[in-house]
Amino acid sequence: MEILDLTLSLEKGRRSRGLVLISNMPDIRSGRRDDFMSGFFYLKGQNYLFRIWDKDVFEIVNEFGPGIYIAELVGADYNGPYLTVKSIDVYSGTEVTRDDFLGGIPRDELERKLATVRAGLNQLGATETCWELVEHILADPRLEDRFMIEGAAIRHHDNVFGGLANHTIKMLNILKALLENNPPLRASADLLIFSIFMHDIGKVFEYRDLNMGEFWYANHRVRGIEFLAAHKNVIIEQYNESFYRQVQSVISGHHGLYGDRPTTVAATIVHYIDMLESQTTEIIREQNNTPGDRIRHPDFGFLYDIPLAEE
Ligand SMILES: [Fe+2]
Ligand SMILES: [Fe+2]
Repeated sequence: MEILDLTLSLEKGRRSRGLVLISNMPDIRSGRRDDFMSGFFYLKGQNYLFRIWDKDVFEIVNEFGPGIYIAELVGADYNGPYLTVKSIDVYSGTEVTRDDFLGGIPRDELERKLATVRAGLNQLGATETCWELVEHILADPRLEDRFMIEGAAIRHHDNVFGGLANHTIKMLNILKALLENNPPLRASADLLIFSIFMHDIGKVFEYRDLNMGEFWYANHRVRGIEFLAAHKNVIIEQYNESFYRQVQSVISGHHGLYGDRPTTVAATIVHYIDMLESQTTEIIREQNNTPGDRIRHPDFGFLYDIPLAEE
């Protein structure tokens, strides 16, 4: 039994049968006539919307929860493509595991990209003190070396292994461009670099292997500030208290209007970088999922696609 290529399965009217992964518990919604199940299959960084209209069929998923299933699908289209599940059964084999669905960014690739941006930032005001502090903190055993492994999200941008580090490195690349364009900002290069590393570090605790972590409800901003507090003395020794407090303000304010509002210039800049990076990644992924003129944007409605090279 093979893992389904869900991009192929999405084609309208196409029937396919094979292995799928449900990584988060789907919702049951009330439809015009009956309840139905709506959820996502996950495959290598992409989520594929599915619906199950038949109660007898979705009861199986309801009972067994997230996991690997053998599913019979039909490609459908209503306000955008999705998969109708005709039948589904728990996969009891052992050859295919969750890891086969996950995919990820190899660590050596991340390390290479990080080294490149680091060299660039060093020309723009970054100091060794900053990099040493970052290395010291990322080696904290509480992180279990998961900064390079955890995803940046479950459903959204960079939801693959290595996604958190990848998102962080892409933000450093944007920061580099901003420092090139705005020379006065270079005096705060260390603060901005260090803050970017720390802004989402709490995701190591909020998530676990692309699932919700045990205490997910204390969100990654809260957990990030808590984690940072364990390193307060080292940070103040290397810099000063105002540096430490500024980093805290970035962690708490980096979601802009969607959380505690930024109270510092640093938090506002990191918020813009974060939005630009995550939203661009997300919109490209949406287009890959749904080419044509039905790319859904949360604020702007349906968008028309642009030419993209194959990856
Ligand atoms: Fe965040
Ligand atoms: Fe982020």
